[in-house]
Amino acid sequence: MKNLVRACVHKIKPYQPGKPIEEVAREIGVEKVESIIKLASNENPLGPSPRALEAVRAALDSVNLYPDGSAYYLKQSLSRKLEAPPEKIIVGNGSNEIIELIMHVFVGSGHRVVYAHPSFLVYRLVATMFGAEATEVPLKDFVHDLPAILEAVDADTRVIFIANPNNPTGTALEPSGIEEFLAGVPDHVVVVLDEAYYEYLPPELRFEGLPWLDRKKLILLRTFSKIYGLAGFRIGYGLASAECVEILNRVRQPFNTNTPAQVAARSALEDEEHVKNTLEVNREGLKTLEEGFSRLGLEYVPSVANFMLVKVGDGEEIFKRLLSRGVIVRPMGFYDLPEYLRITVGLPGENQRLLRELEAVLGAQVKDRNP
Ligand SMILES: Cc1ncc(COP(=O)(O)O)c(C=O)c1O
Repeated sequence: MKNLVRACVHKIKPYQPGKPIEEVAREIGVEKVESIIKLASNENPLGPSPRALEAVRAALDSVNLYPDGSAYYLKQSLSRKLEAPPEKIIVGNGSNEIIELIMHVFVGSGHRVVYAHPSFLVYRLVATMFGAEATEVPLKDFVHDLPAILEAVDADTRVIFIANPNNPTGTALEPSGIEEFLAGVPDHVVVVLDEAYYEYLPPELRFEGLPWLDRKKLILLRTFSKIYGLAGFRIGYGLASAECVEILNRVRQPFNTNTPAQVAARSALEDEEHVKNTLEVNREGLKTLEEGFSRLGLEYVPSVANFMLVKVGDGEEIFKRLLSRGVIVRPMGFYDLPEYLRITVGLPGENQRLLRELEAVLGAQVKDRNP
């Protein structure tokens, strides 16, 4: 089998997702999954919008039929909400799928892809998968170094990926900095601004990308997986020039998003109350975590998203100890930050529990070192 596999596929290190609750329950021998909390994948701790669930139940009767491959009604809803024409919207099986479509269209062997490190690991995954050269530009104080990214661009560069806010740091760029950067990007390069956590940003940090879609080769990516609480449905969207969307659609599978997901996404968009509540819970949660980490004497990176990077020493060890106590977080070794954990903001009780367990396992670590 190995001899048949393309060379670039041999180089792929499988993506390590946050551990599912059921898997941890099996591993630590706990029967009650309710006693386990997952703060590992930046999901919405309030769950999906109740309105979305109601709409999905009604839509289930028609799942014998193929979905609307063009996601017509969802694009209409997005168009109204974002004040962007439907021709500039593409809907994907999570924004991850759109990342892959972009690669299909623009990147082949010998082309270069530029992105920051550490950033969303899927950029590295797709660059490897498509046999591209990857330039990983180190973050500067946990923030994208836009001048260095521009410097890394050469004649072979086809795509730049920028996650804003960045995952795993939770840091965001100033909109004026993004504008300056875009103005300097040469014409043969597509810029993908991955805004999976856009809705968590305070208004003054929200970059107005729409006017740039026709001025530059800019693609904005958004998702229903985060603030809208629909990660399990796999649905996200992109905004780009009508020409770019038309080309991306050529490499899209005809029925890439399913009917319940499209229906859920439309209702979630309308449920402003749920978004407001989520923002409130997140704001309070970030404060609780900041105060808690400070109390424990832990350094952290101030975040404008729904997760935080905190320095705990031996990240893998602390991750395992938290896991054995039923708290799932994300170790950062894969992101070359072995001393850090990435922790998703949870419900108030979950944040308190995380801090209690963290205090306990850190205490145990100190005792182990100085018995
Ligand atoms: C920066 C970033 N982009 C994209 C995604 C993927 O989103 P989706 O669930 O829409 O594929 C994530 C998910 O963690 C992310 O952090």
